[in-house]
Amino acid sequence: MSITQTGRHFLDLGDAGANAVAAMINDAIDRKAARADWPKGRADADAPLAGRVLAMVFEKNSTRTRVSFDIAMRQLGGTALILDSESSQLGRGESIADTARVLSRMADAIMLRTDDHAKIEEMARHATVPVINGLTDRSHPCQIVADLLTVIEHGKALPGLELAWFGDGNNVLHSILEAAALLKFNVRVATPSGYEPDTEFVEMARAGGATVTLTQDAQAAAVGADVVVTDTWVSMGQEHVHNKLAAMAPYQVNPALMAHAKPDALFLHCLPAHVGEEVSEDVFEGMQSVVFDEAENRIHGQKSVLLWSFGLLGE
Ligand code: CP
Ligand code: NVA
Repeated sequence: MSITQTGRHFLDLGDAGANAVAAMINDAIDRKAARADWPKGRADADAPLAGRVLAMVFEKNSTRTRVSFDIAMRQLGGTALILDSESSQLGRGESIADTARVLSRMADAIMLRTDDHAKIEEMARHATVPVINGLTDRSHPCQIVADLLTVIEHGKALPGLELAWFGDGNNVLHSILEAAALLKFNVRVATPSGYEPDTEFVEMARAGGATVTLTQDAQAAAVGADVVVTDTWVSMGQEHVHNKLAAMAPYQVNPALMAHAKPDALFLHCLPAHVGEEVSEDVFEGMQSVVFDEAENRIHGQKSVLLWSFGLLGE
């Protein structure tokens, strides 16, 4: 774990560890329940981040991460501001190191969404306030806090859970594998050849005690699954990749695939979705889909991540 003068960096789930991730989920459940039906911009009763400001830096597009961190800060009693690479000096070549040092003087924490994971590591090295990963090409840990919260809210226990992933072995899957290592659930990964997740994450999950199955057989991966997950076949920054859609086609989550999962299996997707590609409309809009609960839970999960980063949650 990386410690700053005022808190802790959250570049990946492993920075927090199993106990802290479990504490994040529990705190999110409690805070969400305590403010049920309140206006979304009203601060929680304890307003634990009163007076704190989060600087959010976006080098890629975002809807959920951007809005949920902003609302999360408001609900915790603080505020947030946004810089994007187009309109800030980052877009004109100011270094990550200098940006980190400047933002550390002006804000109490930094959230960065970027491409190369090395950039967020660079930000963390030079920042003196907590740095939070809002997605890189390598991982998307905040998403997985919300996803696990959603799975638990819908009555599934994590130890022994069978989660099945279909399509591209991408950043979101990497963080799922890291979570599997920490919280002991099993992951079946069905991808076309050449689109498997990075070996580092597969080995991490296995070393943590999770069973990870890699297959090109989508049906086999779906059999008996508790949770079915997919994501866009073309992540941000991969728009130049050709021939990928044809390779991905057999991995669409549709009723025929869902029929192999448990009857009460949940369907998750971090969004944005490309309905008709990685998921059929009937599954996306169907009774097993919890994608909008998952999207809302980005707020509740983000609050826990922020509290942990400020040293106010977990050990
Ligand atoms: N799921 C997710 O991170 O969405 P955004 O790209 O809209 O932030
Ligand atoms: N894998 C997707 C996730 C978007 C939230 C991407 O990186 O574009």
